[in-house]
Amino acid sequence: MAEMALRNVCKQFDSAHYGVKNFNLDIHDKEFVIFVGPSGCGKSTTLRLIAGLEEITDGELWIDGKLCNYLEPRERDISMVFQNYALYPNMTVYENIAYSLKIRKVPKKEIDKRVKEVAKILEIEPLLKRKPVALSGGQKQRVAIGAAIIRKPKAFLMDEPLSNLDAKLRAQMRVELKKIHNQLDTTIIYVTHDQTEAMTLGTKIVVMKDGEIQQVDTPQNIYSNPINKFVAGFVGSPSMNFIACDVEEEAGKVVLIFAINNAIKKIYPNNHDAQLIREKYMGKRVILGIRPEDVYEYEEAKKRKIDLNSVGIEEEIVTREMLGAEVMLYFEEQNRTHAVKLGPENKTRIGEKIQLFFDTDQIHIFDIETGRNILYRERN
Ligand SMILES: Nc1ncnc2c1ncn2[C@@H]1O[C@H](COP(=O)(O)OP(=O)(O)OP(=O)(O)O)[C@@H](O)[C@H]1O
Ligand SMILES: [Mg+2]
Repeated sequence: MAEMALRNVCKQFDSAHYGVKNFNLDIHDKEFVIFVGPSGCGKSTTLRLIAGLEEITDGELWIDGKLCNYLEPRERDISMVFQNYALYPNMTVYENIAYSLKIRKVPKKEIDKRVKEVAKILEIEPLLKRKPVALSGGQKQRVAIGAAIIRKPKAFLMDEPLSNLDAKLRAQMRVELKKIHNQLDTTIIYVTHDQTEAMTLGTKIVVMKDGEIQQVDTPQNIYSNPINKFVAGFVGSPSMNFIACDVEEEAGKVVLIFAINNAIKKIYPNNHDAQLIREKYMGKRVILGIRPEDVYEYEEAKKRKIDLNSVGIEEEIVTREMLGAEVMLYFEEQNRTHAVKLGPENKTRIGEKIQLFFDTDQIHIFDIETGRNILYRERN
């Protein structure tokens, strides 16, 4: 059980260089918090600050109401699993898992009980007598997680723990981790590059960039209500499509205009969005964002009662990816590649043209200078 609070936490490596800057975050008991962001944005540094492996240069770290800035890692009662899981090669799986209890002088009988419990959760009971060398990558990973969870610490910090595994094992371990989280009822902070891991495991996602938090919210809200263009573009794969357009007025209505394939295209935002855009952006240039799954072909658009007066763009397909349950088509405009996700029945081939309609209720509009999401919905 652990409640954590980070208050303006900073890690300054030298006079000009921050690893983490003004980090403010509340983590509640039993949350599964995910840190995501590009390489070098400070994810590992933040974990190391929480674990006590790195000194906080400014700000406060509170764990269960106690100021922890100056506590030794041991005293924080936090367990960390790294990307390169370290197992002792000359110990068996059993001894590896038992190690942290053994050095704490926990009675043998109690250790035995706990090792067996953990082995059961992780389904590694048949492996207990083996040495790490005789394990697969995924099995080693599970043993490392076992060695971390046996202590029942207040919180687990995991830094890309699945990154060495192949796609299938990752998916399997993802399900395991979710189960472990439910069974252990514990707080987990988890760093990943993997979109699916972030979306499926997290109860809360923290998106970081250049050492600073961009947005903290549930996976669903991060995806559907990103605070800025960076978050919108970072979360989701393939990425959200961005098209620059001009805000104009047409017979009293707000219209977004852009040229695509040398033809002028228009988007009529819904009334709610139009009002927010009109306030500050009339006559200005903005960035329109639309996710690949919010673009449809004519028949599907008609079925979904999408406004067919809004952009029907005709595009030449430059890449096609058949993913089984869906097909991904790519076209180029404004010197960028844009993605569209359609049903697997779509047979458009590379070089062919396709007519596409945007679901105008799903558009995002960003300030061209600050990247702020003009349609961002504040919630309490
Ligand atoms: N000991 C150090 N001294 C100086 N700079 C450091 C040190 N450790 C990390 N940094 C810098 O701090 C920034 C954040 O690093 P960090 O390892 O936290 O990134 P990350 O988000 O974990 O990246 P990745 O996804 O690549 O693991 C980087 O610019 C890195 O170069
Ligand atoms: Mg890292």
